[in-house]
Amino acid sequence: MSVQAFGLSDDDRRPPLNDLLEVVQHGLAHKPKRLPSWLFYDERGSQLFEQICEQPEYYLTRCEIALMAEHAGSIADSLGADVRLVEYGSGNAQKTHLLLQYLHEPVTYVPVEISAEPLRQSIERLSDEFPLLPLQPLCADFTKPLRLPIPPRAPRRTVLYFPGSTIGNFDSHEAVSLLRKMRNEMGDAGGILVGVDLKKDTASIEAAYNDRAGVTEAFTLNMLVRLNREIGSDFELAKFTHRAHYNPMAGRIETHIVSQCDQQVKVGRSKVVFRTDEAIQVEYSCKYSLADFATLAARAGLAVKKVWSDPQQMFSVQYLVRTSALAG
Ligand code: TRP
Repeated sequence: MSVQAFGLSDDDRRPPLNDLLEVVQHGLAHKPKRLPSWLFYDERGSQLFEQICEQPEYYLTRCEIALMAEHAGSIADSLGADVRLVEYGSGNAQKTHLLLQYLHEPVTYVPVEISAEPLRQSIERLSDEFPLLPLQPLCADFTKPLRLPIPPRAPRRTVLYFPGSTIGNFDSHEAVSLLRKMRNEMGDAGGILVGVDLKKDTASIEAAYNDRAGVTEAFTLNMLVRLNREIGSDFELAKFTHRAHYNPMAGRIETHIVSQCDQQVKVGRSKVVFRTDEAIQVEYSCKYSLADFATLAARAGLAVKKVWSDPQQMFSVQYLVRTSALAG
């Protein structure tokens, strides 16, 4: 079935080709070099990410799914009836199935996803499983202002669902801005259901981002494959490696693409020089204590209304509302 058949609005305001080149040139001119993490998620990147989620070392997805399976009923009760559920970065929307099964008369489900193909597939599956639920997919970058489709009937509240610890992929300043944007989008009565990875021993965290099968490495380097294809750069894959280290001071995994030798890469009309061991910073994955995250939320005018967590406290799902709503 075509994307249009689902009324997919292409609200994708990612930069067109020329700008993509500009984004890359800009990032590689920065000291230290860096590239934005949304560049990971072309079609291949989205597939590889799904494979990461299945790796034995990647505890995040397993814990979050177990947690949702265990608590979906209680979560649905907290959100209440007649919810418009908007998911940021819905991907294959696996966790959403668990939630939708329990939601009380949801008004509509709006998956917001930057990558069109996974969005199309998840909608196809969901429309089979929940034939009565209105689906309003939006192909867009959720960090940008969104024009949400008009719901089929008035919802009691809009809940923004943001699983997968994707909030951890923003530094604290960006995370606060994003939470503020979400706070505006959900309105006074709304809420945010967010998956947050928790601080734990360094070895477990580092293993999750350095799986033995090398899927994470392939995922990271796929960014260069994508750039070669889309902007005509000539990164030689064999001359770069993936590196993911936990920075305990900052409380985050820092993922880099590291040059293995002195080399020059053609990007647009110019050449970018890399020294041996020089790194491009491509992703942060911040880990929070419950107190850390409550502080972050407070900076965005949000209060933590409820937290669900697994018995080992590996991962958490948290329900945030406006600070004023909790007080009132
Ligand atoms: N949200 C995921 C996370 O922080 C994204 C992710 C998983 C990721 N593995 C990665 C990003 C490897 C970069 C590299 O865990």
